[in-house]
Amino acid sequence: MQIAIIGAGNVGSALAKGWARSGHTLQLGVRDTSDPKVQSLCRETGALAKSPREAAEAAPVVVLAVPWGAAAEAVQALGPMAGKIVIDCMNPLTLRGGVLALERGFSDSAGEAVAGWLPQAHVVKTLNQVGAAVMADTSGFAVAPAMFMAGNDANAKATVAALLRDLGFEPLDAGALSQSRHLEPYAMVWINQALYQGKGAQWAFAALTPTARSRAT
Ligand SMILES: NC(=O)c1ccc[n+]([C@@H]2O[C@H](COP(=O)([O-])OP(=O)(O)OC[C@H]3O[C@@H](n4cnc5c(N)ncnc54)[C@H](OP(=O)(O)O)[C@@H]3O)[C@@H](O)[C@H]2O)c1
Repeated sequence: MQIAIIGAGNVGSALAKGWARSGHTLQLGVRDTSDPKVQSLCRETGALAKSPREAAEAAPVVVLAVPWGAAAEAVQALGPMAGKIVIDCMNPLTLRGGVLALERGFSDSAGEAVAGWLPQAHVVKTLNQVGAAVMADTSGFAVAPAMFMAGNDANAKATVAALLRDLGFEPLDAGALSQSRHLEPYAMVWINQALYQGKGAQWAFAALTPTARSRAT
């Protein structure tokens, strides 16, 4: 499948590597196509580097992997995006009193803001809940890490679920896009563990249910 990834930083490059291994055709939407890091990523993944708008125009699935502070400008530069599936990986992070916090929550979310900017697109919130290193390579985990997704269009979520499986995740449907209000704070749990509780970047959430064996013991 053709996938456009807007932003080739930690998350954009991790997803490009993960999806390249599954045979997807990638467009990187970047501000500077001649950046040596972008060129190197293109060689590694077979991706084509284009302007964000050209990349988005070339693919039915567009991934937003830019900092929240740049999101409004970056999204508006993409054009109308009618009918496209937009995967929103962004967490609306800010610093409050020197402490990492969310800029939105309780009654709104970044996911819903993106849908407001792109009313004709099918926005799915996901891939915001673990660090980029996990997105790049899930092969070291004994079970598939869980990855929730929230969105209003069932067909879009089915497509995104397949893309999550290609990265080695177990996709879990969290419901409507408004559930982004819960998935964005959920990312803060991962960040807190990784950065402040000593767990580091190589861990992920799993969804476990009892098996016949564990019930019997
Ligand atoms: N890092 C993680 O582990 C992680 C995990 C989950 C979710 N997220 C979320 O994913 C998003 C990206 O995080 P990241 O760590 O990948 O950030 P990053 O490493 O700083 O990369 C951001 C990318 O966005 C590009 N960019 C910035 N402003 C832009 C604009 N106006 N138009 C187009 N591209 C623009 C940058 O391009 P230039 O090189 O041109 O500046 C860069 O390629 C954030 O919203 C973050 O909350 C991050």
